[in-house]
Amino acid sequence: MAKQASAGPTVAWWVPLQKRWLLAILLMLSVSTVFAFFIRAAFYSCDRHFEVHRNVVATTGALPVESLPSPLGFMKSKLVLLVSHELSLTGGPLLLMELAFLLRSVGAEVYWVTVQKPAGTDEVIYNLEQKMLVHGVQVMYAKGKEAVGTALKADIVVLNTAVAGKWLDGVLKENIPHVLPKGLWWIHEMRGHYFKLDYVKHLPFVAGAMIDSHVTAEYWKNRTQERLRIKMPETYVVHLGNSKELMEVAEDGVAKRVLREHIRQSLGVRDEDILFAVINSVSRGKGQHLFLRAFYESLQLIQAKKVQVPLMHAVIVGSDMAAQTKFETELRNYVIQKRIQDRVHFVNKTLTVAPYLAAIDVLVQNSQARGECFGRITIEAMAFQLPVLGTVAGGTTEIVVNGTTGLLHTVGKEGVTPLAKNIVKLATHVERRLTMGKKGYERVKQMFLEHHMAHRIAAVLKDVLRKSRRHPHTS
Ligand SMILES: *[C@@H]1O[C@H](CO)[C@@H](O)[C@H](O)[C@H]1NC(C)=O
Ligand SMILES: *[C@@H]1O[C@H](CO)[C@@H](O)[C@H](O)[C@H]1NC(C)=O
Ligand SMILES: *[C@@H]1O[C@H](CO)[C@@H](O)[C@H](O)[C@H]1NC(C)=O
Repeated sequence: MAKQASAGPTVAWWVPLQKRWLLAILLMLSVSTVFAFFIRAAFYSCDRHFEVHRNVVATTGALPVESLPSPLGFMKSKLVLLVSHELSLTGGPLLLMELAFLLRSVGAEVYWVTVQKPAGTDEVIYNLEQKMLVHGVQVMYAKGKEAVGTALKADIVVLNTAVAGKWLDGVLKENIPHVLPKGLWWIHEMRGHYFKLDYVKHLPFVAGAMIDSHVTAEYWKNRTQERLRIKMPETYVVHLGNSKELMEVAEDGVAKRVLREHIRQSLGVRDEDILFAVINSVSRGKGQHLFLRAFYESLQLIQAKKVQVPLMHAVIVGSDMAAQTKFETELRNYVIQKRIQDRVHFVNKTLTVAPYLAAIDVLVQNSQARGECFGRITIEAMAFQLPVLGTVAGGTTEIVVNGTTGLLHTVGKEGVTPLAKNIVKLATHVERRLTMGKKGYERVKQMFLEHHMAHRIAAVLKDVLRKSRRHPHTS
């Protein structure tokens, strides 16, 4: 098995002072989620830690500083209420926080409520709320009069994910009709249990729905019609974008090299070895079991063909023994049974994906069934010039150009052999692999940056404002 991450002193002696932030990241790599959160804070948004890093980078002249006006400028002084179904380190809430900060950066008045909060104190929630307060986002109690009053006064109310619909009946009650015309529903999921009238019966009456991919939007349209006999409101597809912070690391050669060396060392993988990784929470739906089968098959193919390739390794980033014990055990047993322990590495769940993206050679996006709603890790990997081996499902098909920025395989057991062959292809054709990575990076630069996302969101918010003005009694 892999060695434990040994952070810090081994690299400290030569890392230049300017790169102290990088060292901080390395030091925290092996620590807890709470620390992971702080790293995410430094990496994925624009708080003070990050500004320090930014200044450092600016003075070394390594990166251009963008100074284009924000497409969201028209939101200045507008009042926006963000309704989050929960507050945790998962994709949905973090994305809504990113929107909160984008809106704050143009001078919008931003309020936040969290619908489902555990009783008592939770360190992660506390930290996230503090972070919002630092950005001038006003965090309110979800169920009080103040929240209702703010909803009535707001120019736009954003409901984040399907489940947030419960807040309408639970809290707004008789005020619902006044709020719906300025409501924007942001949906990031497509699992069956979200298609419940309980959650989404008001969906037809909001100004718009914003969904992360065309496939997901299509799916919602079908399911709401067939299952629930309700009609979707006007629906906007908004592909996500990479944060500036992630792009800065991805484009910083020194940072990438240090992170790569560090992670490879901690895994016991040499520089010349080739590393395939799935970076996703470990669960059957994300297809890690099928990836391991494909990986094993690819090792056999290579042996049979007697081709010369670098030593191949697989990494599963996103393990959580506590949450998915049975499935995790199944994965580990498979690895033992096939005697590939020295080739397969499990890494605990983490928010600091950048070091792993810097360390690997190929990202495998193996989500099953309908796939990812969008799959942000895919564009993050492409930013690091990694080719993607992905299932032909969900958002992946809108991100990865088959044959150009990666290779797609079918979902399910039928996809195992095609994936194994694609693994062999990328292991044996170095030039092709690197070219695909570069093309992926170009695609990110063209379509999947924060400012692209901001432009897309701006167009939606403009539409919502225009529509809500037709209901003057609501404001
Ligand atoms: C939606 O329904 C149409 C027509 O029945 C079908 O062609 C399409 O594949 C469906 N899309 C999804 C995502 O289910
Ligand atoms: C990974 O998580 C498990 C608990 O799920 C824990 O026992 C183990 O120490 C963690 N490993 C690292 C390297 O943090
Ligand atoms: C992807 O492209 C390859 C050729 O580059 C092709 O063989 C394969 O069938 C394509 N896969 C899908 C799912 O379209």
